[in-house]
Amino acid sequence: MHITQELNERLTQTGPGTPMGEVFRRYWMPALLSEEVAEPDGAPVRVRMLSEDLVAFRDSAGEVGLVEAYCAHRRAPLFFGRNEECGLRCVYHGWKFDTQGNCVDMPSEPPYSKFRLRVAIKSYPTYEAGGMIWTYMGPTAEMPPPPNYEWLRAPAAHQRASKTGEHCNWLQGLEGGIDTAHSSFAHNNDLSNKNMLRSLDTHPTLEVDLTDYGFTYGSIRNISDDQSFVRVYQFYMPSQQARAFLLNWNGEKNKLPSLDGHIWVPIDDENCYVYNWKYTADDTHEISDEDWHDFEHFTGRAPEDMIPGTYWLRQHPGNDYLIDREVQRTKTFTGISGLNTQDFALQEGMGSIVRRDLEALGSTDRAIQAAREMLLEATADVEAGRAPKGTDPTKYAHVRPGEIVIPKGVPWRDATKEILETVW
Ligand code: FES
Ligand SMILES: [Fe+2]
Repeated sequence: MHITQELNERLTQTGPGTPMGEVFRRYWMPALLSEEVAEPDGAPVRVRMLSEDLVAFRDSAGEVGLVEAYCAHRRAPLFFGRNEECGLRCVYHGWKFDTQGNCVDMPSEPPYSKFRLRVAIKSYPTYEAGGMIWTYMGPTAEMPPPPNYEWLRAPAAHQRASKTGEHCNWLQGLEGGIDTAHSSFAHNNDLSNKNMLRSLDTHPTLEVDLTDYGFTYGSIRNISDDQSFVRVYQFYMPSQQARAFLLNWNGEKNKLPSLDGHIWVPIDDENCYVYNWKYTADDTHEISDEDWHDFEHFTGRAPEDMIPGTYWLRQHPGNDYLIDREVQRTKTFTGISGLNTQDFALQEGMGSIVRRDLEALGSTDRAIQAAREMLLEATADVEAGRAPKGTDPTKYAHVRPGEIVIPKGVPWRDATKEILETVW
């Protein structure tokens, strides 16, 4: 499918009232991490999501509110508000709002006034799971049950989450996430290692199977005369990707066999937050603080890799991601440190919203094309009053990604059945 500029806008814009914006507003999406509102009555947090400005706060009872950013009275910013006694109090004239957006106190009006009963601010429901606060920003009548991915069911000691700001449209990030071919190139961090599974075959065959929640696809690499390396990815509508790290780069069993994924959540059309999650594939391994830190630093997004007090990377477009041309010449394919940072350099460097009408897609872009078609189908579904794919948790609750080395000639769908069964 050729993506004209018109289709590109339809795919990428997610503000209120846009076709894709209405699609995103049919799903529960992460709005922030639990750690951002760790304490009851702690400081409120600014949230910008799908081009809407909001404020999150955890009230005295531990409930998380996600409300519009401006006070109902004269639109003062509630970010400066006092989070106290089960509500967020505007510091301009003292009006106070609960997590549902109701005005519960209006000290600037006389005590007999009933005015406050007619005043409210917009609020969105929240659901806390997997280290994230999720929200649903669509019509109440269409609200699906809360999310139920396998990673949300893994015990806390087996699961971690983080987030990273990305200076480009959400779809560029998602498309990078479901593009397995680039890992043979962009993520080759050891040019001298000729045994890396992904370098032995740099043109994987992609086979996409559409499902009720999105799609699953196998990327098959011929790594020797008698063996294939198969990675099975999951794409959950509208913007989540999952894959496995069961093997290390040379094909040996990983010390910490894990399943990993990302959800790209639009901040606005030119920025997004990537929610990163990880959980262990079985109950024999917990993820220690050290494991998690090592992994996050390897990807380039540990706390010390961020601009302090933010979720934005120190390596960014303004400093060319600290590319080292000597390292690029002698050691790694990109010369940029951090796996995640390598992705950002390429995705952000395309421009805020890439010109898809100018692309030349090849055989390894099949999954990307399938995602675009499915997303466009979802805009048509919502416009016709139908629920888009992937809103029903029962459809995806029992699938997971995987990777395996198999004898050549064995059909990959049969060979991966067992490793794709959920454990949690
Ligand atoms: S603007 Fe918030 S109380 Fe007046
Ligand atoms: Fe990547």
